[in-house]
Amino acid sequence: MPRQLFVTTALPYANGNFHVGHIMEYIQADIWVRYQRMMDHAVDFVCADDTHGAPIMIAAEKAGITPQQFVANIAAGRKPYLDGFHISFDNWHSTDGPENHELARQIYRDLRDNPDGSLIDVRTIEQFFDPKKNMFLPDRFIKGECPKCNAKDQYGDNCENCGAVYAPTDLINAYSALSGAKPELKSSEHFFFKLSDPRCVAFLEAWTQDGKLQPEVANKIKEWFTLRTNPDGSTSEGLGDWDISRDAPYFGIEIPDAPGKYFYVWLDAPIGYLASLKNLLEKRGQDYDAYMANPALEQYHFIGKDIVTFHTLFWPATLHFSGRKTPNNVFVHGFLTVNNGEKMSKSRGTGLDPLKYLRLGMNPEWLRYYLAAKLSARNEDIDFNADDFMARVNSDLIGKYVNIASRAAGFIAKRFDGKLGHVSEDGAALLLQLRNERVNIEQLYETREYAKAMKETMLLADRVNAYVDANKPWDLAKKPEQETRLQDVCTVCIKAFRILTCYLKPVLPTLAEQVEHFLKIGPMSFANLQEPLAAGHVIGTYQHLMQRVDAHQLDALFEPPEPVKQAQDAIKTEAPGGEDMAPTIGIDDFAKVDLRIAKIINCEAVEGSTKLLRLTLDAGEGRLRNVFSGIASSYQPAQLVGKLTVMVANLEPRKMKFGISEGMVLAASHADGKTDSGIYVLEPVAGALPGMRVH
Ligand code: 2FM
Ligand code: ZN
Repeated sequence: MPRQLFVTTALPYANGNFHVGHIMEYIQADIWVRYQRMMDHAVDFVCADDTHGAPIMIAAEKAGITPQQFVANIAAGRKPYLDGFHISFDNWHSTDGPENHELARQIYRDLRDNPDGSLIDVRTIEQFFDPKKNMFLPDRFIKGECPKCNAKDQYGDNCENCGAVYAPTDLINAYSALSGAKPELKSSEHFFFKLSDPRCVAFLEAWTQDGKLQPEVANKIKEWFTLRTNPDGSTSEGLGDWDISRDAPYFGIEIPDAPGKYFYVWLDAPIGYLASLKNLLEKRGQDYDAYMANPALEQYHFIGKDIVTFHTLFWPATLHFSGRKTPNNVFVHGFLTVNNGEKMSKSRGTGLDPLKYLRLGMNPEWLRYYLAAKLSARNEDIDFNADDFMARVNSDLIGKYVNIASRAAGFIAKRFDGKLGHVSEDGAALLLQLRNERVNIEQLYETREYAKAMKETMLLADRVNAYVDANKPWDLAKKPEQETRLQDVCTVCIKAFRILTCYLKPVLPTLAEQVEHFLKIGPMSFANLQEPLAAGHVIGTYQHLMQRVDAHQLDALFEPPEPVKQAQDAIKTEAPGGEDMAPTIGIDDFAKVDLRIAKIINCEAVEGSTKLLRLTLDAGEGRLRNVFSGIASSYQPAQLVGKLTVMVANLEPRKMKFGISEGMVLAASHADGKTDSGIYVLEPVAGALPGMRVH
């Protein structure tokens, strides 16, 4: 029975181009979708830009354009990636499209008006407000001192130093990261999704633990339902209610009957899956409601491990309590690291830029194959390793698989006018073995065990190559009496090649198309694999199907940009600046030093000292400081007056022969005092103001 599947990948934020992690997710999902289509199932595979939220609004403001223009610019850059890596989305849409506005508002109304009791609660909460920007501040835009460990400049939601989780209002000396202003507490009405409602807890406990989710994902989720003790000793409840509203100004969807209130981006983002589908169906003239009402419809979301909460708690609850169908499953993958997560290596730079990969003429199907060869159904990280990539593609794809066709095709063309012959018993037995693996391979694709599917297929290719080695067509070709046997052996190879190509087709769609063209057959599918290639069938001329990966391409791919290369070449190996780097310190050690921008109001020579200059500094604190600095050998006092510099502001005052020094000015010098390399007082880039802290 053909199935009806609705498949998505996570909607990427419309604030940047794709990185290789996005491409990996799209390839993983695309392989699954192509496999399902090859099983003759109907699939609608959609995605969209995730456009709303404060960060995009703020980025657009900085760029001097509207958020709509901003996200349109990003959307315009998507196609080369998607076409380039053969991602077969049926639709790409936007969460700012009319379908999403309409659906989000309707879903909200359905939650609010749930006949068994509303799932929406309105509460007044106190929140930080930026009086300069005239807006409530999102957590990420409030900074201050951690209430637990006092580390400076921590975000409003958690401390990167000690890991504590807190509310922005707990921060000490909070300030707005947008304007620097001291935020004011202001109360405002917020809308909450009542996740703690017993109906909701019961539903989610059942939905997440009924066996459909990956076991490691389901186990992790289990912890969220129970009362737990945080590392800092505080406790968190199980499921807390979810704040789904934000106040204007906000780039988002306005909440019905609540002017000036918008849905938090994570409420409308997954609704964007449905909106993109609706947009697709409307373009095709299909009815969305009828489509969704089909009880046999299956819905799947491919996502990364960082957004599991949204997809396994908030999203199914949103759907269920608004009277809608919940996903059949959510498939979670790990992260992709590149070259062992190396930050930067001298020879191979950093990262893997997908567009650069394509620009270099590297075959997208190499990457598809390599990722397939590493992906399993588990939520685990995988690594792209350049040497491993080259070895796998060259030895598996070219050496084992493509080689089979190139070994047989020439003889069929030259000696038999392209005609396939009859297959004798040993060849038929081999082909049967290959065909018998079909159900196993299908199952591996279905369960997203691609690495195993690739391995099985390569083992089959090994068997075919062993058959070629045993029968030596190149020897048979020399003996006229072996003419029939030569055609038989080469026919077996071509037939085997067709079966292997079918098994690889979800991963290598364009290669498979070339093979279909070469074999003069229609599109291969798992469903039509049993149809034989009859004796007498004429195949086309073989043209080389795939190049080998060249190490130079990989070098070029990971080649750092020119300025980085030049800097790397200039790096010397002796102790930098004449002294070894000091031992590593923790961020909390560094945070103890309070560095401030200070203006040099006055500077004069110190009578009786050849080394010192007396500086009068203004660090914006409503008083001036007197600081002695050993820089007289490098500066005339007049050179420094009026300049900004950096001062250690919390250094204990020091009594010196000439007076008290109330701080220290930062200056650079070579460790070896004997060289004439001089002393250089630090000066900030234009724009810094006295009193600003240096981090
Ligand atoms: O984490 C992210 O990149 C989000 N933009 C994913 C959203 S997925 C879905 F909910 F829209
Ligand atoms: Zn802390």
